[in-house]
Amino acid sequence: MITKRYLRKAAVSILVLAVVGLTGGNALAQNIPKTKAFRIERSMAAEAVACIECHKTEHPGLFSDWAQSRHASASITCYDCHAAQEHDKDVSTSHYQQYQRSDTAWGKKEYRVPITAVVTPKDCSRCHPDEAKQYSLSKHANTMEIIWKIDPWLNDGMNSDIERTSGCYHCHGTILKSENGKLDPDTWPNVGVGRVNLDGSLGSCSSCHTRHLFSVMEARKPEACGQCHLGPDHPQIEIYMESKHGDIYTAHGDNYNWDAAPGAWTPGVDFRGPTCASCHMSGAGSVMTSHDVTERLSWELQAPLTIRPQDFKPLPAKNDWQVERSKMKVICTQCHGRTWVDDHYVKLDKVVQEYNDVYFKPAKKMLDELYEKGLLDKSRFFDEELEVEYYELWHHEGRRARMGTAMMAPDYAWWHGFYETKKRYNKFMKEGRHMVETNQKAFKAPDYPNATGSKQKPPEVFKK
Ligand code: HEC
Ligand code: HEC
Ligand code: HEC
Ligand code: HEC
Ligand code: HEC
Ligand code: HEC
Ligand code: HEC
Ligand code: HEC
Repeated sequence: MITKRYLRKAAVSILVLAVVGLTGGNALAQNIPKTKAFRIERSMAAEAVACIECHKTEHPGLFSDWAQSRHASASITCYDCHAAQEHDKDVSTSHYQQYQRSDTAWGKKEYRVPITAVVTPKDCSRCHPDEAKQYSLSKHANTMEIIWKIDPWLNDGMNSDIERTSGCYHCHGTILKSENGKLDPDTWPNVGVGRVNLDGSLGSCSSCHTRHLFSVMEARKPEACGQCHLGPDHPQIEIYMESKHGDIYTAHGDNYNWDAAPGAWTPGVDFRGPTCASCHMSGAGSVMTSHDVTERLSWELQAPLTIRPQDFKPLPAKNDWQVERSKMKVICTQCHGRTWVDDHYVKLDKVVQEYNDVYFKPAKKMLDELYEKGLLDKSRFFDEELEVEYYELWHHEGRRARMGTAMMAPDYAWWHGFYETKKRYNKFMKEGRHMVETNQKAFKAPDYPNATGSKQKPPEVFKK
């Protein structure tokens, strides 16, 4: 009977293949043989077969992703990832009802096992310990601690809970909560990079490898990163698409060998222009693949004052910036000569220096003076116009100038970057000087909207 079902599945797949063939989706087509190769007879526990069989009819979309994954071909089942203990905080109590069903043969009591919807880096680490370990060291995993240490939106309570949940935490991650076997909808669903899980682990591996395909191909494409790395304050995907590397991806990406074996995705052989993953994660030459995106960086380009990663107080990098820079250069020199690459970094270092000295430091000095003289009020950030001007100077334009240079996008380095920084700087300094000269206090919004979010640092993160 089982064989027959899978034959039917195969027939459906061929249909899908025909449709996809017309639209040129060859990636999916390549996965089809894996669906057929999947055999359920191989030594699977009856409870695990029940998950597959019942969910195949309940959620055919979800089932199909899993059936086409490497996991399915390696007989890694639903239960391998979703298993839980009766008393786990994230166990799904409502799921037990599935084992009291009479409308399906798989809803019997004998298959009953506790499961959870939440699958964390800790769960994946059983089989992928290296990736999980590297990930845990990154700023991705630790971002909730970082942002609660430094961010004025949070620390001054300047936005509301729903503004945080629908915005910030969608990218950065929520702190998962559950009550009586039900996950709190304010914290779930969520696949932010630094999600704080109920088992104490940090992050969500499906930020880049969406379930249930868990494909390396998907994570190697720039779009996987661009879902979070975009917009006025960190426009990496826009920068990338504008760069020569992005142009080459647009022109030739269809012919890249995205499915090369993990760790064996080779510049020049499998692709001719790098993506975010090639430069920041995938291995090349003597440099190993790493799930720690904080490696290979020599600057904190997102910070107000650009500093070295080991001097970043909220999470000092444990490595040496020179070593990390040389690792990045090994990636570049798979395709470029040494001089081309060294000179690129000379340019980046000069931009960092000028941004720091010409724009940031004098603006910061002015801000400090205004606070000191009581012309601006320090009690909370964003409710006075000059605070917003100062913020955008480093957080928007100043970042764009630095990031645009680092990743080869001249339009971001200049027009969206330094040009805008100059305009902002002049406005900010003129207004600041005027206030000092006239000894006039800033207008303070009395009705700043939605400044209702908690200012309490979350104990789940700061328990240590
Ligand atoms: C008899 C059918 C059946 C079986 C057997 C079954 N499930 Fe489910 N499961 C469902 C249905 C239906 C839902 C959706 C419930 C809903 O929409 O409220 C579900 C929901 C889930 C969820 C989401 C739970 C949540 O709280 O959000 C997970 C995860 C899951 N199943 C995994 C499994 C695993 C793992 C197994 C095997 C150990 C399994 N299921 C066995 C029918 C089944
Ligand atoms: C390799 C591990 C892995 C395997 C195998 C796996 N899952 Fe999942 N599943 C996940 C992850 C990761 C998530 C996302 C939840 C999260 O972010 O914690 C998830 C989410 C889910 C959800 C909730 C999401 C939703 O859209 O409702 C359901 C239901 C589910 N899985 C069912 C299944 C079923 C059924 C199977 C087998 C056919 C299966 N899973 C196999 C890892 C796995
Ligand atoms: C019970 C063991 C097990 C668990 C748990 C597990 N995996 Fe895997 N995973 C494997 C095996 C085995 C392979 C290799 C299959 C192969 O080589 O074809 C694999 C392959 C992969 C790949 C490479 C896929 C590709 O396209 O080449 C990714 C990505 C991955 N797993 C992610 C995850 C994530 C994320 C989790 C947790 C949500 C997870 N795995 C949980 C065993 C596991
Ligand atoms: C679209 C996804 C997204 C949203 C929404 C978002 N962020 Fe971010 N955030 C990022 C990314 C990506 C970075 C990394 C920037 C970089 O390194 O260039 C970042 C960086 C930061 C940093 C700097 C961390 C450091 O290491 O210096 C802070 C603080 C921060 N975000 C707080 C917030 C807060 C608070 C909110 C909501 C008010 C928010 N973010 C909304 C994606 C997002
Ligand atoms: C920031 C995006 C991102 C996140 C988050 C992420 N991965 Fe990956 N992962 C990648 C990329 C990119 C590759 C491909 C590396 C290459 O080119 O071989 C990859 C490859 C893999 C592979 C294949 C083997 C290897 O190391 O190349 C496994 C297994 C894997 N990831 C597991 C995980 C697990 C487990 C987690 C959560 C702890 C996770 N990934 C989180 C981007 C990510
Ligand atoms: C779900 C959202 C999300 C996705 C997807 C994502 N990132 Fe991030 N990334 C972030 C956030 C948030 C930060 C800021 C963390 C912090 O500094 O607190 C960040 C920071 C970074 C940093 C800076 C690290 C440092 O130490 O300064 C790099 C590099 C990076 N990401 C690369 C990538 C790459 C490459 C991918 C895709 C393969 C990717 N990210 C996918 C959200 C994401
Ligand atoms: C050609 C290689 C290359 C590509 C492609 C690339 N980057 Fe970068 N990226 C760099 C370099 C070089 C830096 C600066 C490194 C340093 O600090 O020395 C950088 C810096 C960053 C930073 C800033 C980290 C910080 O906070 O200082 C983030 C975030 C980032 N990249 C994310 C991405 C994302 C997302 C993509 C794809 C949309 C991408 N990068 C594409 C090489 C690349
Ligand atoms: C997989 C190969 C590959 C990798 C890896 C790679 N590049 Fe490139 N890069 C190219 C190609 C191809 C071009 C196009 C050269 C041309 O204009 O003909 C290019 C163009 C450039 C340009 C010229 C941009 C412009 O607008 O003129 C710079 C600068 C550059 N790369 C720097 C780097 C740096 C720095 C790294 C590492 C952080 C790097 N590249 C990694 C292939 C690569």
